[in-house]
Amino acid sequence: MAKILGIGNAVLDTILTVEHHPEANEEMRALDKHTATGGNVNNSLYVLNQLGHETSICTTFAADAEAKQLQTDLHKRGISTEHTQTFIKGRTPSSYITLNVQNGDRTIVHYRDLPEVSFDFFAKIEIEDYDWLHFEGRNLTHLPGMLNISKTFLTHQPISLEVEKPRDGIEALFAQANLIIFSHHYAKAKGFDNGADLLASLNLAQTNLVCTWGEQGVWYQQAGGSTEHLAAVKVSTVIDTLGAGDTFNAGLIHALLEKQPLADAVRYANELAAKKIQQPGLDNLLAENQNKPLINIKQLTNTRTTVIDDQNGRSLVLIKYEEGVRCYINNCPHQDVPLNEAYKIDVNPFEKTLKCSVHDAFFNIDDGVCIDGPCWDEALQSVAVKIDEQGDIYLA
Ligand code: FRU
Repeated sequence: MAKILGIGNAVLDTILTVEHHPEANEEMRALDKHTATGGNVNNSLYVLNQLGHETSICTTFAADAEAKQLQTDLHKRGISTEHTQTFIKGRTPSSYITLNVQNGDRTIVHYRDLPEVSFDFFAKIEIEDYDWLHFEGRNLTHLPGMLNISKTFLTHQPISLEVEKPRDGIEALFAQANLIIFSHHYAKAKGFDNGADLLASLNLAQTNLVCTWGEQGVWYQQAGGSTEHLAAVKVSTVIDTLGAGDTFNAGLIHALLEKQPLADAVRYANELAAKKIQQPGLDNLLAENQNKPLINIKQLTNTRTTVIDDQNGRSLVLIKYEEGVRCYINNCPHQDVPLNEAYKIDVNPFEKTLKCSVHDAFFNIDDGVCIDGPCWDEALQSVAVKIDEQGDIYLA
């Protein structure tokens, strides 16, 4: 569990479900109307909460009735509002959204006339208390100062920046972030028709870069590495795309906090976003799968490993050990590659070891410690599991 501070907007969304988006001069009836708390950072923090993190939003509120509703909803989402500024002047930022029932597409009309978080306010927050800071790429009056002090005072906590829209001067801030997530809107506005070209145009060897492009998938570049592409997950029915990008960002932050390499983190985020678009809203995003067993103990043996993906998109190595089970993240600490990258994971049942197929590191099955090979004394990351009476194995 990590402590995450998100800096951005809290918005009141009014969502109208419609048969199709209205055309000019059309009059139509909506199939449903409801309000929900929204805003990119707010949505991402909500998903991060569901992934087990402690979150806090740094934002501004108006002093109107809608702001009260927003605050109540933020608390229901489990997001702390400790770092929020209230303004007498201005109104709650609002979005009026049509959600197409046919294909889950959404259009957003956004209204705001509320001041954004000021540098002076932000500067009083003990940012060192947080494990990760995530900024919306907006508020260009105060964002440079906020990023600057964050970069100056934080020693090891990553800073991520979401760049959704082009804004004057935002490029000058890129060097302050450890992770930048670009949207295709930004890329297109800058004249690119794919994420690879955008990432290649940036000279940021120290930064993890990601560019999401809806159905065209995601381009990403681990700091200093080459640009890779991941296809979008194919889903049969899209229900609701509102907040899919925010969910992706949350998944990415979560997986990187778990020390997954960027490629795995992008894959996880992609799958989480795919899950989101197949359900309405952001509630209980993980619920259905959480009750799903990973596997049954009868399917495991003491002489070979079984590699499976869990609901968080992590690749896990499971093996029976005596009458119980051992479960590890499928990642060799030597070079951060899957243990079965080159070949299967060999097991020696007499020595009670398993071997990474890449550079022959031998690990104790019992505690995951490397007892021979290039990462001697380092250990596989253990994952807690529980077994029920039927032998079904679940994440603990
Ligand atoms: C979805 C969203 C909505 C909000 C709008 C703000 O990504 O955050 O909740 O109204 O975008 O741009």
